[in-house]
Amino acid sequence: MTDTLSDADLDLIFREARSFNGWHDKEVADDQIHAIYELMKMGPTSANQQPGRFVWCKSRESRERLAKCASEGNQKKILTAPVCVIIGYDLDFHEQLPWLFPHTDAKSWFEGDEEGRRESAFRNSALQGAYLMLAARSLGLDCGPMSGFDQEATTKEFFADQPRYRADWLCSIGYGDRTTIFDRSPRPDFDRFNQLI
Ligand SMILES: Cc1cc2nc3c(=O)[nH]c(=O)nc-3n(C[C@H](O)[C@H](O)[C@H](O)COP(=O)(O)O)c2cc1C
Repeated sequence: MTDTLSDADLDLIFREARSFNGWHDKEVADDQIHAIYELMKMGPTSANQQPGRFVWCKSRESRERLAKCASEGNQKKILTAPVCVIIGYDLDFHEQLPWLFPHTDAKSWFEGDEEGRRESAFRNSALQGAYLMLAARSLGLDCGPMSGFDQEATTKEFFADQPRYRADWLCSIGYGDRTTIFDRSPRPDFDRFNQLI
């Protein structure tokens, strides 16, 4: 029994993992999507808000609808991926807090504070998207995150029945084709952007 991941695990999740632009023609099963969610939902969010709202576009039809909302450069990355998930958030996530954070009245913290809710939903749904990518990689899948798309159009197209949801970013998921990626861009050394005080 070891209490850290192996070097191979860390390579899989971080060191060798890349943001993919192209995909092998290999399906991602619904079970794999559920397995990603079962892991990612365990990641922490402030007061267990869980503000992320996710639309997993798997059918050809749903990916075509999504690609129409994307920048030209991202359209193919959506159409050729087995799955592309919309990471959105609920501006009224606080309505769920009575069951998500039952030991105190956290809902009241956010009532009447639209700007505070927006900030919190944005922060915590982005965290959930990061957990999503790490969960997918942990399960042997690859990711291609994207923000080059029309958020408003996507919100209208996919969240029409949920007027308080907003689309924020996208992530293609599948088996990445390594011939489609650039060389790794530099990552800053610790001393550059960190202070250890
Ligand atoms: C939130 C987010 C938005 C991104 N948007 C795009 C995008 O619209 N189009 C694209 O081709 N890549 C996009 N990327 C990919 C980044 O350029 C890529 O993750 C970064 O250069 C690191 O690449 P690497 O993971 O292969 O090292 C995005 C990444 C993130 C995390």
